[in-house]
Amino acid sequence: MAKLLTNIGCLLGIDNPGGGLKKGVEMRQINQIDNAWLLTEGQFIADFGAMTELPEATAGVEIVDLKGAWVFPAFCDPHTHLVFAASREGEFIDKLNGLSYEQIAANGGGILNSAAKLQKMDEAILYEQSAWRLQQAALQGIGAIEIKSGYGLTLADELKMLRVIRKLKETSSVLVKATCLGLHAIPREFKNNKAAYVNLVIDRLIPQVAAEGLADFVDVFCETNYFSVEDMVAVIAAGDKYGLKAKVHVNQFNALGGVKAAVQHGALSVDHLEVMEEEDLVALQGSNTMATVLPGCSFYLRIPYAPARAMIDRGVGLAIASDYNPGSSPSINPELNMALACIQQRLLPEEALNAATINAAAAMDCAAEVGSIAIKKRANLAVTRALPSLAYLPYAFGEKKVIRTMLNGTFI
Ligand code: NIG
Ligand code: FE
Repeated sequence: MAKLLTNIGCLLGIDNPGGGLKKGVEMRQINQIDNAWLLTEGQFIADFGAMTELPEATAGVEIVDLKGAWVFPAFCDPHTHLVFAASREGEFIDKLNGLSYEQIAANGGGILNSAAKLQKMDEAILYEQSAWRLQQAALQGIGAIEIKSGYGLTLADELKMLRVIRKLKETSSVLVKATCLGLHAIPREFKNNKAAYVNLVIDRLIPQVAAEGLADFVDVFCETNYFSVEDMVAVIAAGDKYGLKAKVHVNQFNALGGVKAAVQHGALSVDHLEVMEEEDLVALQGSNTMATVLPGCSFYLRIPYAPARAMIDRGVGLAIASDYNPGSSPSINPELNMALACIQQRLLPEEALNAATINAAAAMDCAAEVGSIAIKKRANLAVTRALPSLAYLPYAFGEKKVIRTMLNGTFI
């Protein structure tokens, strides 16, 4: 049923139809209408405007008086590992006792720990608990999300994860994008033969995933003790053959030259970027590759934050994601991630909102469908109580401001 939302205190994140990613200074721009209305038709935004020009109520339109509440485009989260078998708070205690992420992984924790648990888990249970997490994300105002495989680490278990993600796509009202992250860690069986595992992923996993339509993107963890720049380029090329764009993990702990190579090979996004050298920053300038920063991961691991301010100042397009996963970012909270981006990475509130909405949508290739308030886009909205200003959103960190989420024209 069509809905007419009236008395919106402030409608923010308004875009022209077809408006896409924002780069550099453009990220300071947030269009808004105070005292607004918005009309949905089916799953989409049909129109919006100022209350002074409210359209006549027509039959068949449900009127919802928002009584001054603020309306944002629902948040988009373009980098998560939401499908996992179990939390890892044992490693959290190890971390509190002084072990680093690398030391925890070397002691049998980390990604291999998650993989061992996921390999044993039944697909139906994996789906059930992932669906619950996705619903929690929606309740926090998330309307579109990318979810990676990468805790399977065998052909069968990577496919199992991707089938779970496909089922989430089919059953959730959140827009879900799937990424094949076969090269997330070197499985124990391949400890002394990494090349054989890389070949398995490139020659068998990616072609099968493409044939079954199980992924939208490919990814690889390009890092010391994980996968090289050369491995990353091979994955990007393998994805290219099937029209699967690349979103890659680079520069989390070490700058290996992965940013430049990813940009040169047309990656959709480069993610993490905590350790950036001049050549990495230069590579991003003028490119359409989205720099995706993961402040929750820096907060939780106590590692440096990506130099987001410097990237925006150099004209780069920047997105914020949660990196939600049990090992390096056990929280998906979009409001908290925006606050961290402002407080720790010196984004302005307008930049953080663009980074968490339209640019985050662009980082998963769905900016034409979601990420802003525009006619014909999905009616995906995050509603907060009346706020004193946009700045209040990241300022009052930890306070939950989103009170309702609309997805595809329906309040969840
Ligand atoms: O993005 N860095 C690689 N992958 C994840 C962490 C995965 C894990 O620790 O389970 C990340 O931080
Ligand atoms: Fe990640």
